Amino acid sequence: MVKEILAKPEYSREDLLYFMKLTDNQQLQLLYDAAHEMKKTHVGKKAYYRGLIEFSNICTKDCFYCGIRKSSPQERYSMSRDEILEMALWAHENKYGSVTIQSGERQDAEFTGFVADLISEIKAKTNGELAMTLCLGEQPREVYEDWFNRGAQRYLLRMETSNKTLYQSLHPPTANHSYETRVECLKTLKNVGFQVGTGVMIGLPGQTPEDLVDDIIFYKKHDIDMIGMGPYIVHKDTPMGQQVIATGQDTPDARAQRFTYGLKMIALTRLYLKDVNIAATTALQALHPMGRELGLKAGANILMPIITLREYRRKYQLYDDKPCIDDDPSHCKNCLTGRVESIGDTVGFGEWGDPPHFILRRGV
Ligand code: 5AD
Repeated sequence: MVKEILAKPEYSREDLLYFMKLTDNQQLQLLYDAAHEMKKTHVGKKAYYRGLIEFSNICTKDCFYCGIRKSSPQERYSMSRDEILEMALWAHENKYGSVTIQSGERQDAEFTGFVADLISEIKAKTNGELAMTLCLGEQPREVYEDWFNRGAQRYLLRMETSNKTLYQSLHPPTANHSYETRVECLKTLKNVGFQVGTGVMIGLPGQTPEDLVDDIIFYKKHDIDMIGMGPYIVHKDTPMGQQVIATGQDTPDARAQRFTYGLKMIALTRLYLKDVNIAATTALQALHPMGRELGLKAGANILMPIITLREYRRKYQLYDDKPCIDDDPSHCKNCLTGRVESIGDTVGFGEWGDPPHFILRRGV
């Protein structure tokens, strides 16, 4: 059955669901291998680095799952402009094709202006050679436009889940946590000209295999260029984390299952969308020591090495036991390059690694 479905040129929702519910390891391996082949055909066996700069954990949102939510007891920090620039220049010197600039969500003018200046500065200091991905949440159109015009090319805004009811269960019922706004922002980002990324958390309480399949269909419907998704991981200082622990849903078995769903999501997204960029995220690594390698072998082609200065890493804990928090940027670079080469892929040093999907989209 698996081989028959894999041979089809297009999959139906039922086909995706069949794969999503597979449990047999041998059959799953066929799925991962097919996705790895698809990756070779459409984006090549190259992994691209996006150096991740987590420059502030100050956040105005209160998402129930997240360790840096507004109400969390986490101590707050914001890096200075010079510290961020230093990290971006390090990424450039080390031939990373791009950096991902991430922080808690803020919409005040001080923040959006700070980011605008940073984008211009990074562009100038790297002769426009370093691509920039922004991961700074929901913003008004004018802000997206300004950031794009200053030289950022990509924007990552996770949907978290495409199921509206589930979305509402993950967020407080306030105006700044609206499902519709999130979808609107994705559309605006595309209109403004960004390469647009989204993604979901996998294994959320109440999430079904049907929901996950619908997430993949959502990516296609919204013509998404880049996907960053990973398993949900408990953070014990959050309402959702506490509830998951209290109801006995954080067992090693449950975690292993979330990990497998993570790999299935990567493989099925690669098979269904083909020419997009897909990240093997740090959250995968948090649940399995070989998480990122297995992600690359299941069809992912992007890695996001954390380049945040070591002194800040502990404070940017979106979930418990986040890996690499005691490492420094050069250690992460060498460690990841070894991991990529161990599975026979190479690193696209000095290349932007734009998703072919975007290149085709822009061409028309
Ligand atoms: N587990 C996994 N991923 C999480 N994120 C936030 N909290 C968690 C968690 N507990 C993810 C969200 C967010 C991204 C920056 O981090 O998907 O969009």
